[in-house]
Amino acid sequence: MVVSARKEASKIGSDILKKGGNAFDAMIATELALAVVYPYAGNIGGGGFMVYRKYDGKTGCLDYREKAPLLATKSMYLDEEHNIIPEKSTLGAMAIGVPGTIAGIFAVHEKFGTLPIKEIFQPIINLANKGIVVTEKQAKQICSKQANFLKVNKDSILFSKKWTTNDTIVQTELGRTLTRIMQNGRDEFYKGETAKVLSSFIQDNGGIITEEDLAKYEAKWRTPITFEYDNLKIISMSPPSSGGICLAQIMKMIEPFDLHDFGHNALKTIQVITEAERRSYADRSFYLADPDFVDIPSLKLIDNTYLKMRMADFSFDKATRSNDVSHGNITIIESNETTHYSIIDQFGNAVSATTTLNGAYGSKLYCSRLGFFLNNEMDDFSSKPGVPNMFGLIGGDANSIASEKRMLSSMTPTIIEKDGSLFMVVGTPGGSTIITSVLQTILNVHEFGMTMQEAVNAPRFHHQWLPDEIRTEPNTFSTGLIKKLEQLGYNINPKHSPVIGKVDGILVLDDKTLEGGADYRGDDTAVGF
Ligand code: DON
Repeated sequence: MVVSARKEASKIGSDILKKGGNAFDAMIATELALAVVYPYAGNIGGGGFMVYRKYDGKTGCLDYREKAPLLATKSMYLDEEHNIIPEKSTLGAMAIGVPGTIAGIFAVHEKFGTLPIKEIFQPIINLANKGIVVTEKQAKQICSKQANFLKVNKDSILFSKKWTTNDTIVQTELGRTLTRIMQNGRDEFYKGETAKVLSSFIQDNGGIITEEDLAKYEAKWRTPITFEYDNLKIISMSPPSSGGICLAQIMKMIEPFDLHDFGHNALKTIQVITEAERRSYADRSFYLADPDFVDIPSLKLIDNTYLKMRMADFSFDKATRSNDVSHGNITIIESNETTHYSIIDQFGNAVSATTTLNGAYGSKLYCSRLGFFLNNEMDDFSSKPGVPNMFGLIGGDANSIASEKRMLSSMTPTIIEKDGSLFMVVGTPGGSTIITSVLQTILNVHEFGMTMQEAVNAPRFHHQWLPDEIRTEPNTFSTGLIKKLEQLGYNINPKHSPVIGKVDGILVLDDKTLEGGADYRGDDTAVGF
């Protein structure tokens, strides 16, 4: 089964499985299909993370996150008075990090692929050439970004047009780029004609990415964050994503409380989860960044004694104020527009992958000759300590910009074992709300007995330390519940965003049965056989 943001991508991935390919072959196909059918977030001009669990229980993860260009500097988004220059890290060529997606899929193929690259690429090239049919939600997405497409691009682009529902968008240039990559391999993107065209296009538009940046890019195999919660073993992404560490912190902080008894989205459940989230996001801001640049005390941050101490001042009587919470002191203890897809194959291999351009259509800069959008991932760095990025996240010095450094992420592709066997594959887009959406989906199944689809559908809430507010999807909490929370000192913001996350998951029901949960909030679809 493959669950992704679009039916076409899930079907292409599932067809690869039907042909006898494994979850890793299907991952490559799904990732590329999303780049064609869902350019809002699917990409070859961005990056991502993938967590896997093989049929034999072996786990691992791949970091194909973008990197800061060689010419990047700590103060590149600040003016002479050291104030942030609006939109410089989010719109246009200066916002782009060196893309990692093509390196990522080839790294996966080299290690685990079973089908020839041509067999995996060809259906996607066919899709680009045949054209994709615009859905209602997609028409709205494209429409809402027209002003920025015009602002950023020198000429009109394929997407700067009022596409409407059921129109067909043919992407001939993207088809050609993918064909060259299929024929020449990974180096076509990083050292070949594509690299030359791409770097001079970016520079021509005022950016700093050079051919050398592309030539030096490598995806990296890393060790996932693993931890236990009841009889579950959670396997999630390690830094440079904050996802795994924050998920571990939050789950361990809430484990002593009986959420099952409190009930789903009940007062006490909301209090416990909010307070754990508040404390974890404060740690994220201070400690987490690219592990190749910063020493991250990962083990200490997920140490039970430390986390018990972090929750020691929590009381059901009154909300903690975020202003009274800073990062924890780990020295006194001893001892994570994006898109996600989940895959389980017929051999028992599981793949959980989250990939992104950061904002919707990334930097909005579209390379017409190559046929794709480029990311604005540089905004995930902390441009100036204490000043929030586009997700309102406050960063510290650890996540400041440096040449070749990877920017901190919240992406949380996750796999869960129950009593030693594969149980769930889950993940979501949503910027800073990714971690808390993954958390709630796991709890909805494990604590509150929901099916995979019910767990995905259930209304969500989120707290990220700063700003000090609980964000809710509309109508998540009743008026009575909101009143009670406000009396306890919680600030509730139901208006921040109409949806929190777009979760795609798979639950293993038994040896032969999988249940897909595809988020109704998007065009997401599960396809299996
Ligand atoms: O890596 C991160 O945390 C962000 N670049 C993710 C962006 C995202 O989820 C946007 N989608 N809603």
